[in-house]
Amino acid sequence: ADLGPDPADGSAPRPVTVLDWAEPALALGRELAARAPSAALRDARWRRARIDAALDVPPTGLVTVSYVLGELTPADRTAVVDAAAGAAEAVAVVEPGTPDGYRRIIEARDRLVAAGFHVAAPCPHSAACPIEEGTDWCHFAARVSRSSLHRQVKGASLAWEDEKFSYVAATRFPPAPATARVVRRPQTRKGQVLLDLCRDTEELSRETVTKRQGPLYRAARDTAWGDPWPPREDPAP
Ligand SMILES: C[S@@+](CC[C@H](N)C(=O)[O-])C[C@H]1O[C@@H](n2cnc3c(N)ncnc32)[C@H](O)[C@@H]1O
Repeated sequence: ADLGPDPADGSAPRPVTVLDWAEPALALGRELAARAPSAALRDARWRRARIDAALDVPPTGLVTVSYVLGELTPADRTAVVDAAAGAAEAVAVVEPGTPDGYRRIIEARDRLVAAGFHVAAPCPHSAACPIEEGTDWCHFAARVSRSSLHRQVKGASLAWEDEKFSYVAATRFPPAPATARVVRRPQTRKGQVLLDLCRDTEELSRETVTKRQGPLYRAARDTAWGDPWPPREDPAP
């Protein structure tokens, strides 16, 4: 991941520490980060550590828990999310976009909200998820390019794949939440775009935006799965 631009005022970016218990995973991360545009990532500290209930997380701005909850025991999962909540101003948890990954995200989300956090994304609210367990799962997709080795290992021919993920980002400070979030790939029909939205706690809803709606229709055509809806105004230059 790229952490975005380095501070414009020339001050040192906040230090980043990455934890994993496997040396090969740390080595690969180190190698990839060496080429990252962000100085914070290039200068990251790669620490071999076991992630479990004994993990000590010092106070920090952001803790990300990425694709690891599924590797832990239920007790360690809750302890790690609680430790992140106790240490950070913001917490982001990402899991594979499967029914099980989504379930773990909901568990983490519940713990973060119980610890006083506000959900910043993907949900436009911090109340219960409107999806009834077992009927659906909230997930999104990111297109990632495949190397030739990646294609060979997977027996695949396309130069990319859509990685499905579920996530929650929560903050101690109240965020400016989206009005709604597009929770499925938008469907484009002649003169219409159908958007499946999470808006509040009741249920997912579908909005049909038609050509007659002019600028809103053009915005809907440019809107992707996972985006906020309606699109946020760009800040005035
Ligand atoms: C699916 S990979 C995700 C890697 C990385 N966090 C990312 O998002 O790309 C899972 C990683 O969790 C690490 N892992 C699993 N259980 C762990 C534990 N208890 N403590 C530390 N690392 C663990 C594995 O070594 C592996 O690198």
